Amino acid sequence: MTLDPALSLRAALDTVARQLREGRIEEPKREARLLVAGALGLSLSDLILRESEPLGQRAPQLAEWLTRRLAREPVSRIAGQREFYGLSLSLTPATLDPRPDTETLVEAVLVEARGGRFGSSPRVLDLGTGSGAILLALLSVLLEATGLGIDIVPEVVAGAETNARRLDLSGRATFRAGDLFEGLVETFSIVVSNPPYIPSGDIPALDPEVRLHDPLRALDGGADGLDFYRRISREATRYLQPGGLLAVEVGRGQAEDVARLFAVDGLQAGGIRHDLAGTARVVLAFRP
Ligand SMILES: C[S@@+](CC[C@H](N)C(=O)[O-])C[C@H]1O[C@@H](n2cnc3c(N)ncnc32)[C@H](O)[C@@H]1O
Repeated sequence: MTLDPALSLRAALDTVARQLREGRIEEPKREARLLVAGALGLSLSDLILRESEPLGQRAPQLAEWLTRRLAREPVSRIAGQREFYGLSLSLTPATLDPRPDTETLVEAVLVEARGGRFGSSPRVLDLGTGSGAILLALLSVLLEATGLGIDIVPEVVAGAETNARRLDLSGRATFRAGDLFEGLVETFSIVVSNPPYIPSGDIPALDPEVRLHDPLRALDGGADGLDFYRRISREATRYLQPGGLLAVEVGRGQAEDVARLFAVDGLQAGGIRHDLAGTARVVLAFRP
């Protein structure tokens, strides 16, 4: 595929959107804006202001990005970057692309933390931290909080450290490689996690954007998708301070089961929160 460098950005947007529509990509106009802005290194608002300018020497880059998108690679993977809770996060190939739904978890924790409920300098643990999205978003608002993000994949941990540095949060956020709570000796005011939760048997049917481009390790939650919640539930009390909050993201249809697991393990129910689509997305519990 080639694109004429003399095309105006407006015409390039139309061409890219048409090709995406023909390639059955959802929201072709929105995706076209992201691709054109990303390939030209422009913000979305700058793109609007410069629509009459020619594509110029970035035309081959845009053509390559369009070819990759038509092969079902997500825009955030192509650009190596994702906006999450107003933060710009870079992604490595081993890192899960953070989803807007996960902002529901961030919001739910911030509501609970209002009024200094967890003391003047809460300590946050993020299990399966990936890009560091949840921990970094929380620390960007809770200015006195500090936190630790743990992930089993060392390359992912390195990516989260890079994000913390770029966001000027590395003084309050540390990261390390590990298997959930393994080796931890301290306790936390808040434990958050968006663990792998897709039932293993559902993975082959996922959209290609997810199945081919998100790491399997970030997706596979075992036979019923609940393996990580069982482990977290069993061990959380030991790593939470009294009155401390456990907040997890869950997949569709899992909230009641996860709330039940937490109750059986002696945690006090903190309720279920829904995402913008109305799906039960977050389960909260407290150490009594
Ligand atoms: C669904 S992703 C969530 C990533 C990130 N927290 C987010 O919300 O975008 C789950 C993460 O858990 C990590 N993971 C998988 N098994 C783990 C384990 N046993 N211990 C720690 N992290 C694990 C994966 O590498 C992946 O980064």
